[in-house]
Amino acid sequence: MRVFSELDRWGPGSEQDTLKALSMVPFEPQFILEIGCGKGVATTVLATHTSAHIVAVDNDEPALARLRERTREAGLSDRIETACHSMQELPFNAASFDVIWSEGSAYIICVAEAFEAWRPLLKDIEHELGIYRNHLGEFGYQMFVLQKS
Ligand SMILES: C[S@@+](CC[C@H](N)C(=O)[O-])C[C@H]1O[C@@H](n2cnc3c(N)ncnc32)[C@H](O)[C@@H]1O
Repeated sequence: MRVFSELDRWGPGSEQDTLKALSMVPFEPQFILEIGCGKGVATTVLATHTSAHIVAVDNDEPALARLRERTREAGLSDRIETACHSMQELPFNAASFDVIWSEGSAYIICVAEAFEAWRPLLKDIEHELGIYRNHLGEFGYQMFVLQKS
């Protein structure tokens, strides 16, 4: 990550991509879990365009510190919590979130395994998966998991 340390965005995509994916969520999310949030480029967009409480997870504490700084500057920090954890060992109770958001990060543990491991954290066990792929294809896609509405 040292090569990318000066950059705020650590994956492909853009604010427009995040907004396009968010527009596909058919309800107003109240509890979002963002996994592999990096420095919070998507977190900031999600917090700005929803009223949700967001838990942002990454295993890189300096990235989370930058996330806290940027969301504080944007006046959004009261709805954002950071958690330094491995995406493979998430310490949350089952059925805690209504959307799981992960941009350019699920591939780290294999997308299928990520879906399987993260599903129980959703509030409703009957749910749909939604995937929005940007122009960069397989490794550039953004993913969100939805509670069935
Ligand atoms: C490609 S970057 C994407 C970051 C951010 N979503 C963005 O688009 O800027 C992948 C992120 O996953 C984090 N990461 C890598 N392995 C992880 C793991 N095992 N558990 C939690 N986070 C991890 C990295 O620190 C990094 O922030």
